[in-house]
This record gives sequence, structure tokens and C-alpha cells, in this order.
Amino acid sequence: MGTAAGPAADSDLVRAARGLPVSRTPVWFMRQAGRSLPEYRALRAGTAMLQACQDPDLVTEITLQPVRRHGVDAAILFSDIVLPLVVAGVDIEIKPGIGPVVASPVRTVADVDALPPLEPDRLDFLATAVRRLVGELGATPLIGFAGAPFTLATYLIEGGPSKEHARTKAFMYAEPEAWQRLLERLAVSAATFLRVQVDAGASAVQLFDSWAGVLSATDYAARVLPHSRAVFDGLAAPEVPKVHFGVGTGELLPLIGEAGVDVVGVDWRVPLDEAARRVGPGYSLQGNLDPAVLLADRATVDREVRRVVEQGRAARGHVFNLGHGVLPDTDPGVLTHVVELVHELSAR
Ligand code: CP3
Repeated sequence: MGTAAGPAADSDLVRAARGLPVSRTPVWFMRQAGRSLPEYRALRAGTAMLQACQDPDLVTEITLQPVRRHGVDAAILFSDIVLPLVVAGVDIEIKPGIGPVVASPVRTVADVDALPPLEPDRLDFLATAVRRLVGELGATPLIGFAGAPFTLATYLIEGGPSKEHARTKAFMYAEPEAWQRLLERLAVSAATFLRVQVDAGASAVQLFDSWAGVLSATDYAARVLPHSRAVFDGLAAPEVPKVHFGVGTGELLPLIGEAGVDVVGVDWRVPLDEAARRVGPGYSLQGNLDPAVLLADRATVDREVRRVVEQGRAARGHVFNLGHGVLPDTDPGVLTHVVELVHELSAR
């Protein structure tokens, strides 16, 4: 496959990701499709999260909502990182206010071997939704995504959300071979999930390794990074820019890019000019406004947006985003304002 075709291939998002000149800094928000929008809550009412993710009509409409409302420079597919596991047949539920809950957590080598593989032909709903979205979005790029092997492993092993990820680390240290096999399998399924999205026309992809920041750089480099790299190698899509994101990854920033990506996602803890030094040349940055700032007064929002835009100039290219997802009680009007302000501050 050659260069990604279509009107979104020359968008500011794709250009910033590649470090090419842009007309203005592109902006989108992690979790832009979701509970901060009343139109989302209305549409989702009565449908379970993981059901909604498998309904092409709902996926298309929910994905488009923030693009229409905020004028963001990219859509991100409405889905979830656990969806490939669910489609493969793992019993997982997303409990509102909690997160993914796994009925039978993975605790032994036998549990790892019993995990069902992801058959690509079960992903027709996904290809349908992406194709429809790409048609509707025109010049606005669609970002496809998947969960990284480590972050998915934390849910499978802990059985649900966790702060310390102690069981995950214990398994990683005590069962190195089972750990490797588990992460290899998760890498294959993430690559399959991304492949379907890219083949259906997604313009960029993001790998969410949200909880990788709980690891030391040494453990991350030896026990996790090779599997995240395997996702991008397995995807084999040089034509689409690749974003790699985690929370609390300040100490890991020099490694995150080594997964073979164009863009390193940064949370709010490290200023973008410092992050640019840590990742080194050859990478664009995405981030990094603290989502909590959006709950503050307008003057604070404006000052912080200005700071992020200015510090982002230190990077090869900058995609403006939050340092993590939109908080559910964020006023959507503030998000629209941030899009306008970023555009105004960065117009060339
Ligand atoms: O707009 C977007 O960013 C696209 C949609 C998206 C969702 N989940 C929708 C969603 C994306 C990119 C994700 C990824 C995801 N899911 C991650 C990685 C990103 C991150 O936040 O670090 C993780 C860790 C998950 C697992 C997960 N799913 C959690 C922790 C939760 C929150 C549970 C809660 O209610 O607080 C979910 C549910 C989820 N995923 C919702 C949405 C819109 C909320 C479900 C609802 O509306 O009830």
C-alpha cells in the first residue's frame, strides 16, 4: 500500500504529525466523543457502551458529534480499547463510573493460553463504520486507535481498573514467559484492530498505553516497549502517521518514540519544550493541556492554552490536545473556545 489517499491525507493533522508546515496548529481532544456532550448522552441512553461500539450507525453519529460542535481538526473513532477482546469473546463489561470489568481475570499461564484470538472477519461492523465516517468527514482526518498490550494486560490481570497495578507487575516479574506470550497475543490483536481501520480509510492511528507510566524505564524498555513496537510493525502502514500516548510517562519519553512512531503523546506533567528535549529530534508532540484546567475560569484557560501553544513550538510538529481525556463535567462550550483560541494563536 502506498501513500494514504483521500482529501484528509494533506490535512494539518497529518502534516503536523509528519513535521511538515501547517496552516495552523491542529487540535482535537482525547475523549471528545463522550459524556461532556448532551447529544452523546441522549444518543447513548439505553444502550450499553460496548453494544454502542459495535453499532455502525451509533459509532458514526457519536464520532461526528464533536467534529460538528467544536470544529476540531480530527475525529477519533468512537470505540474502546477493550473492544478487540470483547469481539474475540472475552467476557468484559464497561461499568459506568468504574470502567472495564473482566469476569475471569487472567492469573495463570493456562488463562493466557485460553484467551481467544481475534478473527478479522468479526470486525465488519468496524470497517463499515470507518468507511462511512471517512465519506462523511471529507477533508477532516479520522484517527483510528487501539489499546497497547501493557494497558490491556492491566485490565485482564487486575480484572478491572487499578491504581497500583500490583498484580500486573507481580505477574510480569513472576511469570516472564506467560507475560511475554500474553503481550505478544495482545499485540497481534491490536495490529489486527488497527489494520481494519487503516484499510477502511483512517488517516492516522493512536496507540493508547495509558498506564505505562507506572513502570520504571528499565522494565518498560525490556518488558513492554518491544510489544508496542510489534503492534506498529504488524500494522505495517508507513502511509499513516502513528501516535503513541501514555499518562505519567515523563521518565519514559525518550523510549516512547522508539516504538516506531511519528508523534509522542505527552500528559500535563512535562512542559512540551522539555518533552521535545526528552524525545529528541524526529518526533512531533501531541498534548498537553491539563484537562482539569477546563474546569477553571476563562482567564486561566486562555493563559494555559497560550502556554501550551508556545511551548509546542519547540517540537518538530505539534498537535494540540489535552494531557488525558476530557473530564465528563467539562462545559462543552469551553472545548469549542479552546479550538478557536488555538487556531487564532497559531494561524500562519
Ligand atoms: O473520544 C474519544 O477519545 C474516542 C473514544 C474512546 C473511548 N475510550 C470511549 C469511552 C477512547 C479513545 C477510549 C480509550 C480508552 N478506554 C482508554 C485509553 C484512553 C484513556 O482514557 O487513557 C481506556 C483506559 C479505556 C477504558 C475505559 N473505557 C475507561 C477507563 C472508561 C471510563 C469508565 C467511566 O465510566 O468512567 C471507559 C468507558 C468509556 N470509553 C466511555 C467512553 C465515551 C464512557 C462510557 C459511557 O458513556 O458511559
